[in-house]
Amino acid sequence: MKTVVCPGSFDPITNGHLDIIQRASGIFDRVIVLVASNQEKRNFFTAPERKAMIEKVVRELNLSNVEVDTDDGLLVNYIQKVGASAIVKGLRAVSDFEYEFQMALTNHKLLPQCETIFFTTSSKNMYLSSSIVRQVGRLGGDITQFVPECVYPEIHEKLLQSSKRQEV
Ligand code: PNS
Repeated sequence: MKTVVCPGSFDPITNGHLDIIQRASGIFDRVIVLVASNQEKRNFFTAPERKAMIEKVVRELNLSNVEVDTDDGLLVNYIQKVGASAIVKGLRAVSDFEYEFQMALTNHKLLPQCETIFFTTSSKNMYLSSSIVRQVGRLGGDITQFVPECVYPEIHEKLLQSSKRQEV
């Protein structure tokens, strides 16, 4: 049984993430979407919020071989713990490449049996990122086309609330 881990901040999940998760789910036996900690980022949604939103999307789409988890340690330790064969990540543009390449090589150095598989993002999602969703949503723009429909209300609500707090 081939298990892969799809790690990321998912702050929040976007249609771009979902596309990668769905494609991985069609290829591998078991896919674990891991809300992992990125020390370089300050997250907007809490880890339990991010996990709950992904779980909702996975349930809604009946992705029966997809699980969701959180972890605040080293990714390679998690990979070993769950017996995964590979890390799956989406690659949007050249701008992603250097950072993703560095992480893939580091993870491979730390755990030589761990491979990283990159899925090229569908062209319709090339521009999309969680930070774009946060920026547009905070300023009251329409984010319905950027995030999965079933989690739109909670994403919209929290972004709007935070922009109101900033105004005062
Ligand atoms: O969505 P992101 O923020 O680009 O994902 C980055 C993430 C969370 C996958 C990366 O920061 C990570 O693997 N974090 C876990 C801690 C770790 O192992 N860091 C070293 C990576 S080389």
